[in-house]
Amino acid sequence: MPQKIFKPAHSSVEDLVPYQTGKPIEEVAREKGLSKIVKLASNENPLGMSDRALEAMRRAAADVNRYPDGGTYVLKKLVADRHGVPDGNIVLGNGSNEILELLTQLLLGNGDETLYAWPAFIVYRLATLAHGSRGVEVPLDKELRHDLGAMRDAITSRTRIVFIANPNNPTGTYVNGTQLEDFIAALPPHVLLVLDEAYFEYAAGLDGFPDGVELFKEGRPIVVTRTFSKAFGLAGLRVGYAVMPEPLVQLINRIRQPFNVNSVAQAAAAAALEDEEFIQRAVQLNRAEMDRLSRALEDIGLMTTPSAANFLLIHLAGRDGGEVYNGLLDRGVIVRPMAGYGLPQTIRVTIGLPEENDIFFKALMEIL
Ligand SMILES: Cc1ncc(COP(=O)(O)O)c(C=O)c1O
Repeated sequence: MPQKIFKPAHSSVEDLVPYQTGKPIEEVAREKGLSKIVKLASNENPLGMSDRALEAMRRAAADVNRYPDGGTYVLKKLVADRHGVPDGNIVLGNGSNEILELLTQLLLGNGDETLYAWPAFIVYRLATLAHGSRGVEVPLDKELRHDLGAMRDAITSRTRIVFIANPNNPTGTYVNGTQLEDFIAALPPHVLLVLDEAYFEYAAGLDGFPDGVELFKEGRPIVVTRTFSKAFGLAGLRVGYAVMPEPLVQLINRIRQPFNVNSVAQAAAAAALEDEEFIQRAVQLNRAEMDRLSRALEDIGLMTTPSAANFLLIHLAGRDGGEVYNGLLDRGVIVRPMAGYGLPQTIRVTIGLPEENDIFFKALMEIL
């Protein structure tokens, strides 16, 4: 077969490494011959989902012979009302990941640049290189926080998008309101800031933590993405949204799939949005368990990076993260090794239920 037909339009695609997802529970159970597996690898909600969302899914499942509402009327209106913005400012996506992808597809051409911290959510790199553009990666500072001064200095005439995950994945660190407002004020007009708030619900209310949607409402020309995958517990359904200026919404609507958010996901997300009690429970459990786990780790001499999200980056005091990851896997605990993010002596662990965190901690103690 002629190799030419496999040649990607953008040679940058050849440099990409496919996204590594957390190992599936069933696969690890089969490979290791274990019946009980604890998965703390993908920053999912260990409580499951809102009962109301489950009930809405069951009802919506009866109608899946029909296409979904391509305009996502009900969900869009609920999201808009929740944030006090017109529904013309809302885009819904197949996960917030799809919206990040649509923005790069819309705005990037050959030779353009995006700018983001490293390590950060790897999709910024993937989406940039997929469109033949260059990702400029600015190292986090010594405390694994965004170095906004260095990021500002790295902006060029080719920069089109700056991605900031707040809090950041895989570190859990965040940029505070003053730092963020100064950064936005200094952005040249050809650069769009995409503020990725996938973990917003966990971080809301922490000291100085900014609400990107409020900044948008005050008139800053930014895009804020949020998701139903984390605190809302709907990762498997793939639904997220963004708040953005209306002209950008209209452009995105031209290039997105007509039915990009499926009907079951739309129904569940709408119900989940109204179950405030579930979110509060998820956030409280996360904070309590994160405190407990980080203290227990500290007691055995392991430091963690202070996290505003639902995971902890654990520093293994010189031990190899890949070895610790494999040792945990042998004991039925799935976490995320971080060598691919340039942090070979760390692992990232999602905060689970108390019993899951205990199993993780016990397995870690055995290895160490
Ligand atoms: C920082 C960040 N942004 C976005 C996402 C993607 O979330 P979604 O499930 O909405 O596509 C994740 C998922 O892990 C994430 O960590």
